[in-house]
Amino acid sequence: MITEVLARDTAAERPEAPVHPVEVISPILAGHPTELGGEYYVTVLKKLAKTRSVKRYLEVGVCKGDCFSQIACDRAIGVDPAFQLSQNVTSGKKDVRLFQMPSDAFFDEVDVKEALGGPIDLAFLDGLHQFEYLLRDFYNTERLCAPRSLIAMHDCLPVGDTMMPRSISDALRLSRGTRHEGWWTGDVWKVVAILRKYRPDLRVICLDAPPTGLVFVTNLDPDNATLSRDYCRIVDEFAAVPNTLQSVAEFYGTLPILPTSAILTGFDHSLYFRA
Ligand SMILES: C[S@@+](CC[C@H](N)C(=O)[O-])C[C@H]1O[C@@H](n2cnc3c(N)ncnc32)[C@H](O)[C@@H]1O
Repeated sequence: MITEVLARDTAAERPEAPVHPVEVISPILAGHPTELGGEYYVTVLKKLAKTRSVKRYLEVGVCKGDCFSQIACDRAIGVDPAFQLSQNVTSGKKDVRLFQMPSDAFFDEVDVKEALGGPIDLAFLDGLHQFEYLLRDFYNTERLCAPRSLIAMHDCLPVGDTMMPRSISDALRLSRGTRHEGWWTGDVWKVVAILRKYRPDLRVICLDAPPTGLVFVTNLDPDNATLSRDYCRIVDEFAAVPNTLQSVAEFYGTLPILPTSAILTGFDHSLYFRA
């Protein structure tokens, strides 16, 4: 399931490639999905926010606040068209703003830099799980970032096909009675494939954070308009890619998935992210 390899990113144009040996994990082996074995995604985000002394945090898709409540920072913004808060989302923060609206409206209407007092340090994108929505959330967030900022995306590493339908009701129906009951990743894995194809300048780091992966993107360029300018063409291209376990298995063959431990130790962390 896990092989020891040199995780050198072979694309010459990708910046800051890690050059030391790490484990690379395949979530699908011989056609069989396997579970991800790293640290829980909330734990990774919580630790990373602390390590990087995050001051300004944005979360798209907050739901109950399970993750949001764990992030310590100065100012935080949460966006969700239907909050279901059951956690103390003010915990560890000086200033919290919640916008109950879809992310497209939020990015249209809110002066995020003004509200946060500067560019975003860490964003967690976990809203609607259809790839065109996450793609828009990504490029709308990137233009509010600085090169050192981190964008984290959730659910981009599905570990089975019952969670992959574009419709949540289909995912709930298909997963009923399985060990992945209630899980929904949709087809947001396609956004990672899009970034790797259309934004080779970005640093994309996939981690085995259960349940369904964390993908960090850095070396961001707020002035790069490729994704927004070519949005319709890119969406048409990737809508035609079958959203199947077979496609996902091929996609996993093209990218290293690293253990969360690779970025949670102080030394290794600096190999992956801009200081
Ligand atoms: C998986 S939950 C988020 C969980 C949360 N990030 C956490 O880890 O604790 C997804 C949330 O996305 C929200 N959502 C759905 N459509 C959205 C949209 N267009 N913009 C922003 N959020 C959206 C849903 O209401 C739901 O609460």
